[in-house]
Amino acid sequence: MLEQTVQIVSNERDTEQYFRLVLSAPQIAPLIQPGQFAHVRVASMKDALLRRPFSIFQVAGDTFSILYKTVGKGTDALSRMRAGGELSVIAPLGHGFTVPKPGGETPLLVAGGYGMAAMHLLAQRSPQKGTVFVGGRRRVDILCEKEFAALGWDVRATTEDGSHGEKGLVTQPLLAELRTPHSALRTCRLFACGPTPMLMAVGKIAEDFNVPAELSMDEHMCCGVGVCLTCVIPVKSDGGWEYQRTCTEGPVFDSRKILWEIAK
Ligand SMILES: Cc1cc2nc3c(=O)[nH]c(=O)nc-3n(C[C@H](O)[C@H](O)[C@H](O)COP(=O)(O)OP(=O)(O)OC[C@H]3O[C@@H](n4cnc5c(N)ncnc54)[C@H](O)[C@@H]3O)c2cc1C
Ligand code: FES
Repeated sequence: MLEQTVQIVSNERDTEQYFRLVLSAPQIAPLIQPGQFAHVRVASMKDALLRRPFSIFQVAGDTFSILYKTVGKGTDALSRMRAGGELSVIAPLGHGFTVPKPGGETPLLVAGGYGMAAMHLLAQRSPQKGTVFVGGRRRVDILCEKEFAALGWDVRATTEDGSHGEKGLVTQPLLAELRTPHSALRTCRLFACGPTPMLMAVGKIAEDFNVPAELSMDEHMCCGVGVCLTCVIPVKSDGGWEYQRTCTEGPVFDSRKILWEIAK
């Protein structure tokens, strides 16, 4: 993990509220593992003390990128930054996804909205291709579909308003696939990132079908480095349960360990 001031290579709009930010970070880029995140200080904000966490979307040579949605003052200020500007980042942070091994379980990725950003590097680094279920409210919330397809993954899109792909929730085609008798995808491992209700649903599906699942938990964070305890979630332990930090022990957790009854 490094704290560095890095240069913005580009910061372009993707669709409506979504932007892609590419940063030149030759020392950080080679260290990054799928599912890890960067903690970014947006210096142009008045209360610039608090950093914002973003999954690392792509790594290419000396650069890494994030794919972000403008939802508030930090991401809005970020969207107005231009190529050549500088940002302070701490990265790579957190415990990411287990990269599938050749010939192992089929990886099934489940991503909601900007959760797709956390999955792309996993799809790229996985020697075994599988299926990626991507979902969002509207067509504009379906990100990087073509990029997943270009990596050789089968992409199944769903939108809640039916404007793209199958109409409904992202878990529907996943459930349909797992319910299909003799489906090759039943020997699988699930990987998911998205809104908490989606993660809970994926955790329940994993339990019902007795398949392993790794979930990237999106909690509010302050320090991002394990000190402030803002980001904790309840996790099963040998003696019962304990709080663990999503910025340090996570953000990716084995779904069987999460105590949803207390986490809700
Ligand atoms: C590990 C991790 C990875 C993330 N990866 C990405 C990513 O790849 N792309 C992306 O667009 N966003 C990602 N986020 C969410 C991102 O950090 C927040 O959207 C951002 O901090 C909001 O900052 P803001 O100042 O614009 O919003 P604020 O003004 O602080 O808040 C605006 C709204 O956003 C909500 N919000 C703030 N933080 C979060 C959060 N962590 N999760 C959900 N809602 C939040 C607030 O409750 C409020 O409703 C990630 C969060 C975590 C913890
Ligand atoms: S954000 Fe401070 S401990 Fe996790």
